[in-house]
Amino acid sequence: MYEAYYGLSERPFSLLPDPSFLYLSKSHDTALTLLEYGLMSQAGFTVITGEIGSGKTTLSRHILNKLGDNVKVGLITNAQKSFGELLQWVLLAFGLDYKNKTKVELYQAFNDFLIEEYRKNHRTVLMIDEAQNLSVETMEELRMLSNINADKHQVLQMVLLGQPELRTMLRQPELEQFAQRISVDFHLKCLDEEETKAYIKHRLAIAGGDPGLFDDEACEAAFMLSNGTPRIINRVCDLALVYGFAEEKQQITAEIMLEVTMDKAEIEDLAASDLGLPEFSKETEEQTPNKNQGGVGEVVAHVQKELQSHLGHAIETLRKMKLPRF
Ligand SMILES: Nc1ncnc2c1ncn2[C@@H]1O[C@H](COP(=O)(O)OP(=O)(O)O)[C@@H](O)[C@H]1O
Ligand SMILES: [Mg+2]
Repeated sequence: MYEAYYGLSERPFSLLPDPSFLYLSKSHDTALTLLEYGLMSQAGFTVITGEIGSGKTTLSRHILNKLGDNVKVGLITNAQKSFGELLQWVLLAFGLDYKNKTKVELYQAFNDFLIEEYRKNHRTVLMIDEAQNLSVETMEELRMLSNINADKHQVLQMVLLGQPELRTMLRQPELEQFAQRISVDFHLKCLDEEETKAYIKHRLAIAGGDPGLFDDEACEAAFMLSNGTPRIINRVCDLALVYGFAEEKQQITAEIMLEVTMDKAEIEDLAASDLGLPEFSKETEEQTPNKNQGGVGEVVAHVQKELQSHLGHAIETLRKMKLPRF
């Protein structure tokens, strides 16, 4: 909707894990190097954790695009708690026939596949996303698969991506043997303020737009609202573009970010006091109906108006606020 208005060829802040938008912060860069190392060396397990929306799936898509034909990848994108037979999923991930086979036959089929690929000088990688959902039993099964070898070479490498619970799980005593097989283990951090600015500019540029479309204060506000989590930066910035377009603004400023925030607070039914905002001044109270009559929506609208006219500097307001969650 706003693309043409802002001269963008596509939406710069979509929530898809599109690797063409990849921005390498310090932490993403390290994660990428370690993932590459994990895939190129004979590492058994590579484990990358990070909060929801920190960029794990995007990084994995990026690395998969870079792998050559000599690497066979099986991807399980959405591991579930009620997973059923792991081996069926693994065979499916590699495009192998998994139907009507006993567990022994499944194992044998996978074993044969691995050895055959090894003979062809191919590497085989199993990548599991959302791995925090796997059960301890399934993890143990994965460990058994990592035992398959040919000429003393480990023929299967595994990459697990997951939310921070995955780390907690791997510390359990039942998984001690599994933990010993992990060669690469990294936790993806969120972006800092400078990186958040660079990230916003980067995504705007990739989408064919003006990297300076969000002014410095707007970027600062995006950082405050998101704590540097890319997924939340995207949500906030996408909304800000909708607002900016609706109000025919040439540039996205902290004021627009404040509006987005106040509306979000309203949707969440947060009152001014929940947000830690200043009390109404006497004179403004006189200009409006009793605030207790109007309900939260009206209070928020009022605070918004007051903030814009009296405080002016939106970034200062945001700094003082307890921010809603996007
Ligand atoms: N380093 C990054 N560069 C560009 N976009 C990113 C980056 N990290 C995350 N994103 C974006 O943030 C959103 C969430 O990323 P995703 O990879 O799905 O996170 P996770 O898998 O950790 O939950 C996506 O829109 C993705 O494109
Ligand atoms: Mg993901």
